[in-house]
Amino acid sequence: MDDGLHKVYQAVELTCKDDASGHDWWHILRVVKLALFISERENANSLTVELAALLHDVDDWKLNGAVEGCPVAHRILHDAGFCNNDDVQLITHTIGQVSFKGAGVNTTPTTIEAKVVQDADRLDAIGAIGVARAFAYGGARQRQIYIPGLKPQLHQSFDEYQHANGSTINHFYEKLLLLKDRLNTQTARQIAVERHQFMELFLAQFFKEWSMFD
Ligand code: ADP
Ligand code: NI
Repeated sequence: MDDGLHKVYQAVELTCKDDASGHDWWHILRVVKLALFISERENANSLTVELAALLHDVDDWKLNGAVEGCPVAHRILHDAGFCNNDDVQLITHTIGQVSFKGAGVNTTPTTIEAKVVQDADRLDAIGAIGVARAFAYGGARQRQIYIPGLKPQLHQSFDEYQHANGSTINHFYEKLLLLKDRLNTQTARQIAVERHQFMELFLAQFFKEWSMFD
């Protein structure tokens, strides 16, 4: 592997190795692998995809608070020897297009590389791993598993979405179940089918068990 790329892997692992909110190093590695798989089928630039997938969460608002301009990604790229301004800009611009910002907010990326990384990140938010990550995130943020009577909200702005604090079960209706129809590539849509069905099965079983107390 290219020495610069290897340094990025090492630096990103250091930034997220202790995360317990579903944004750990294994999430990053799964997104990198999924993104490279999709990239090959969609003819995207694989180095841009790999670097953006590696760095897609290092400046995330959920983990670091809202900061402008991807400072952590800039530093990691610079330290790894990626110093050409246009290259760095291309990667940070790609990362900036990945994140979900609320059910009513359009976040369709403009480049194929950003579309691929967004799809890979979204695939890792659904299915069995998605269920596990949602509850890990909820626990890490003191969110309740389920609050009967509290209706899901389809947030119409990024600000509303950022400040929401409903239950993790509501997060399925506010984001996770919407993702399969918001994927950019045919490759990701195919992978999503089984994962989406599994979440529906999980929720049906959850409410079946819960209904014992009704
Ligand atoms: P994105 O940037 O699109 O949100 P990430 O990989 O950064 O993608 O994070 C998504 C993960 O965080 C998902 O697994 C999702 O379930 C979890 N998550 C985000 N918000 C919540 C929430 N309010 N409740 C439970 N899980 C959440
Ligand atoms: Ni992510």
